[in-house]
Amino acid sequence: MSDISRLGVVGCGLMGSGIAEVAALRGLDVTVTESSAELAAAGRDRVIASLERGVRRGKLTETERDQALARLTFTHDLGELADRQFVIEAVAENRDVKLDLFRQLDKVIVDPEAVLATNTSSIPVVDLAVATGRSSHVVGLHFFNPVPVQKLVEVIPALTTSADTVTRARAVATELLGKEVVQAPDRSGFVVNALLVPYLLAAIRMVESGAARPEDIDRGMELGCAHPMGPLRLLDLIGLDTAQAVAESMYEEFKEPLYAAPPLLQRMVAAGHLGRKSGRGFYPYD
Ligand code: CAA
Repeated sequence: MSDISRLGVVGCGLMGSGIAEVAALRGLDVTVTESSAELAAAGRDRVIASLERGVRRGKLTETERDQALARLTFTHDLGELADRQFVIEAVAENRDVKLDLFRQLDKVIVDPEAVLATNTSSIPVVDLAVATGRSSHVVGLHFFNPVPVQKLVEVIPALTTSADTVTRARAVATELLGKEVVQAPDRSGFVVNALLVPYLLAAIRMVESGAARPEDIDRGMELGCAHPMGPLRLLDLIGLDTAQAVAESMYEEFKEPLYAAPPLLQRMVAAGHLGRKSGRGFYPYD
């Protein structure tokens, strides 16, 4: 059984807020950090909105919501993570930002046995590991969006990760967070995105070439293949900026044209049409 009770989450956007919510609902003491007081407050609002939604839909009682909230601390001071036993980094998919963060976490976290996990979708875990002085305690834990719903977590050991760290990361994901795990290689895209991203990009190219409309592509995959949502709706959910970043990092690693971000994706990101989170992507959102 896992001995971990104090979790840190760095970044409270789509993924970080979901991880923090799940962890607090399952009884962990969670400290969430953001880079500014405003972003910390926005992250808190995001978690509260999701908990409220759970109450409205009859999945949570008001007491469970309140207990979860009481277990959460939101801060913009990374130093408040000092006593954490396990930290999950879920900041934007930017290599330099993540490298800098891992250097800082290495200094801040007191317990030498603490595990530092990254939710990166595509950046080599080993790069983040060797940015610290504790590369055997760094591991990838890749969650899926929406975190409260998707059962899977990919566990990605870097070449430097110890067997004990992998065991502890698997225990946190399964026993503490209630997820199922698959072990994935430390190569860009891991297992799931390596298969998913070429499919999503192919759907964008189909729209870009004028071959089919988003509605028809999505309905085709939803009704024809029983996918819960078609590729363009899914891109809107993931965030087009995130999808672009993942595709670019996979392209950088493999130089395969099927991973190259199509111009339409790049232009939509440049225009700020990022999907649900910005109110507009392949579809409009209120
Ligand atoms: N938090 C908590 N619960 C949520 C939720 C959220 N954010 N969003 C949906 N749910 C729950 C709902 O409460 C509902 O539960 P019940 O049926 O028990 O009431 C259930 O999920 C279904 O939700 P909805 O009825 O609102 O909507 P839906 O049936 O259209 O499902 C969906 C929405 C769960 C997002 C579903 O369409 C889905 O699974 N889509 C595919 C998502 C996917 O593929 N994610 C992976 C993305 S790739 C990724 O994340 C990796 C990466 O690195 C890019």
